[in-house]
Amino acid sequence: MPNKIILKRKLSNFNKKISIPGDKSISIRWVLISSLANGISKASNLLMSEDVMASVIAVKKLGAKVILKNNVCTIHGVGLNGYKYKKNLIINARNSGTLGRLISGILIDTPFPIKIVGDKSLSKRDFQRVAKPLSKFGASFQLRNNCNLPLTIKGSKKLKPIKFFESKGSAQCKSSIIFGGIKTEGKTIIKAKKSRNHTELLFKHLRLPIKIKKSKNFDIIEIRKVNNIKSINYKIPSDLSSASFFIALTVLSEKSKLIIKNINVNPTRTGIIEILKKMGVKISFLNKRNYKGEPIADILVTSPQILKSLNCPSKFNSGAIDEFLLIFLIAAKAKGVSLFKNLEELNKKESPRLKWGSKILKMMGIKVITTKDSIKIFGNPRLKINKKVVIKKYLKDHRVFMTSVVAALSFGGEWHIHDKDAIKTSFPSFLKIINTFKK
Ligand code: S3P
Repeated sequence: MPNKIILKRKLSNFNKKISIPGDKSISIRWVLISSLANGISKASNLLMSEDVMASVIAVKKLGAKVILKNNVCTIHGVGLNGYKYKKNLIINARNSGTLGRLISGILIDTPFPIKIVGDKSLSKRDFQRVAKPLSKFGASFQLRNNCNLPLTIKGSKKLKPIKFFESKGSAQCKSSIIFGGIKTEGKTIIKAKKSRNHTELLFKHLRLPIKIKKSKNFDIIEIRKVNNIKSINYKIPSDLSSASFFIALTVLSEKSKLIIKNINVNPTRTGIIEILKKMGVKISFLNKRNYKGEPIADILVTSPQILKSLNCPSKFNSGAIDEFLLIFLIAAKAKGVSLFKNLEELNKKESPRLKWGSKILKMMGIKVITTKDSIKIFGNPRLKINKKVVIKKYLKDHRVFMTSVVAALSFGGEWHIHDKDAIKTSFPSFLKIINTFKK
């Protein structure tokens, strides 16, 4: 089977209701926390993707028993101090920054050195951002080039609580320190720029000793040593980041309407919704409910008559961080010039996404001006593509692949999109769901 797809036809006039697989961030956190719990936890709708499977393999290596059967994942937790540390242990985080960074915090008390490795893309990413604060607890870290994977953690039994200022809006850094905090006697304090808060919500639901004071731009999080985590049964809500490919497809197609069921609409994740509303898109949450602290809803979106350009307020950046490739694509069809700024984090993802966003738009014939942390997009509401567009060598970034598919189905032209396998990272059934739109 060729690892590339060719798309030549636009989509329009659809009216559909779809379901999307489980949320990646919540799936990985549930796997890690369940492995540390006392007792048996079960999850349904766990995302069956490579990032989550890497997490499952990691906790199995550390001694937890995991059974995947009939769409239910069962984890026999080993307790907070129950991981079976062995000499020469290697954890492979593959493509997952979330796994690599969160587990680094969990492992700060390992008696033997543990090595964390990743794939080509993850090995290019910054791990100093967690190694530096985690070393303050008393563990020591060796990193390639002082920054990258592979890294080796040498744990400590004499951990000291820390004060940490998380200034990037990175939920992975914040969560890594929260995990370090539950292994450490005393009070760890984190001042964190707003970012997704699934770890905090799970901890609150489990009644673990976490306190959160919210202010406009930052949260102050206090965390203390935990002795016991209760097992947790969970129905993982569906992933807004995955749903966003279909939201974008509807926004960019004509005369279409879409309902997406059971989506996690945690306000720390809904940046794309806020931005699209400002661009004139009609989008609403139906049947809103609360599940173990997480808000869930069905999303209704319709194709807009016109799309307005916007000067995007940076307060939306963290809540839309995984959706900017799609947002750029939508800005390409808007009337007028859009500006997105303070996006330095975007070039630090699975691939440099600010660069890829600009590259794809240029290939489509859109004028863009990019700096190291911003992009100005000169939208064209009548954009139609009549040429061949080839997307390859993008470090197999799943979101670059899926965004390119949405572009092909929205603007026309002949698209050759390589490294189809990239979707296995976060959304293996993406093309299967896309195909239901073609019928
Ligand atoms: C994630 C946090 C974000 C996001 C990533 C998942 C998480 O990364 O981009 O896809 O699950 O905590 P950063 O923490 O680097 O912003």
